Amino acid sequence: MPATIMYGNVLANEMRENIKEDVNVLIDSDIHPKLTVLIIGENPASKTYVRMKQKACHKVGIASQVIELNENISEDELLEQINKLNEDNTVHGILVQLPLPNHINEKRVLEYIDPVKDVDGFHPINIGRMQIGHDSLVPCTPLGIMKLLEYYQVDLSGKHAVVVGRSNIVGKPVGQLLLNQDATVTYCHSKTEQLSKITRQADLLIVATGKAATIKAQDVKEGAVVIDVGNTFLDDGRVVGDVDFEAVKDKVQKITPVPKGVGPMTITMLLHNTVKVAKSFI
Ligand code: GUN
Repeated sequence: MPATIMYGNVLANEMRENIKEDVNVLIDSDIHPKLTVLIIGENPASKTYVRMKQKACHKVGIASQVIELNENISEDELLEQINKLNEDNTVHGILVQLPLPNHINEKRVLEYIDPVKDVDGFHPINIGRMQIGHDSLVPCTPLGIMKLLEYYQVDLSGKHAVVVGRSNIVGKPVGQLLLNQDATVTYCHSKTEQLSKITRQADLLIVATGKAATIKAQDVKEGAVVIDVGNTFLDDGRVVGDVDFEAVKDKVQKITPVPKGVGPMTITMLLHNTVKVAKSFI
């Protein structure tokens, strides 16, 4: 049987329609959901991502504000900006686009954002709440992956989920969410020995290495479900994932494509989180 292709853009569009309705209800209650993004310096990829976030907000009626700060801003000046947004009742979501310039301490900045407005879900309070299964703002890519798995009715309980990549943004939190859903979770990373031996045992394989074609056909089990978080821009303009899609798709049960897979879900979850915060302001 050919693999089911798990199109994130289909679910993302459906969810964005619901989010738009939620925004209208909030506006009727005189709450105008607003996301403020801080971008520091001139990183072209970051600028593209921020533009995509702004456009997505606009389409569902969320107000978006982008504050562009100079590369040389001091850490204290940046914290002062965040403090103002923490105290501004018209701002529901605060997002500091990463990476930050080297002279700025990322941990200190992320911890300074009011956890209530932390729509990235990166604050230790939100990470901790997520870990113990309490209601929290959950990081967008992991949350988007969980929604995709639910939509495509992927059974998690008791299954062996292998997560390749241990970033704070994707790998670590997605493993935690899978564990909370009763999967048996193995984390792999750049120091893992015999990676292929482990990935071949996965019922569910989540690949978030940021390296094109990390996973080839011989690295997956027949009938597995594969989620590809990769998003590498090639010189010829193509975007590819971390999985060799063409080779792997003939061997698995379900797989996400790149593009149109996990990517559209990430931004949708940012909208979801912003509306979640705005609802808590009622
Ligand atoms: N840079 C790359 N991905 C992300 C993300 O999800 N959030 C933020 N704030 N910065 C990023």
